[in-house]
Amino acid sequence: MRKPFDLNADYQPKDFKFRPAFKKKSAEIIANYPKGKQQSAVMGLLDLAQRQVAEDGAKADKPYGGWIPKAAMDHIAEVLDMPPMKVYEVATFYSMYNLAPVGKYLVQICGTSPCWLCGAGKIKKVCEDHLGIKLWDSTDDGLFTLMEVECLGACVNAPMVQINDDYYEDLNEELMIKILDDLKAGRKVSVGSQTGRKASMAASGPTTLMDEAKKAKVV
Ligand code: FES
Repeated sequence: MRKPFDLNADYQPKDFKFRPAFKKKSAEIIANYPKGKQQSAVMGLLDLAQRQVAEDGAKADKPYGGWIPKAAMDHIAEVLDMPPMKVYEVATFYSMYNLAPVGKYLVQICGTSPCWLCGAGKIKKVCEDHLGIKLWDSTDDGLFTLMEVECLGACVNAPMVQINDDYYEDLNEELMIKILDDLKAGRKVSVGSQTGRKASMAASGPTTLMDEAKKAKVV
């Protein structure tokens, strides 16, 4: 069952602080901005918070993925000396921030026209059937959450999904099942094109710039 976004939910931890390694990274991000403009680091710090939670979740008995608790947003507001509401406004605007717990593997299925024409519907169905959940839900073991998203910019290798930070492209139903099974079993999974296609070109190979393609060793 997917947890709803709720700032007062039971799943919200009471406290959040950046651990030393993440605190160091947050200082580096803040230092990218001119004096007096440190609040511009809010997006980078939200991303860091999500990554710290993901690191904790990967080690938990019942795993979970990266998300941003209210306590983390409040901590970021304190660090950047800005009203918490301003941090909530940014966090709720962008879909890459998860504001409620998600599975260790967040499977984002692209459902926009090029992927849809190339079989995104079948990818969505095979994910739902294989994991035994519907879109927007999470598996009981805490491993997977399924989402449908708009174009992820890898249309030429459609259909594709994003799982955490990685893209998996040129999918079909069998390849999708294998990826899910390998992730579940902790096996190494190769990212990018699942059919070995290199770079952004037609499935039959490059049709222009042939010399450059040879130089780049894609043919
Ligand atoms: S339509 Fe799926 S990546 Fe663009």
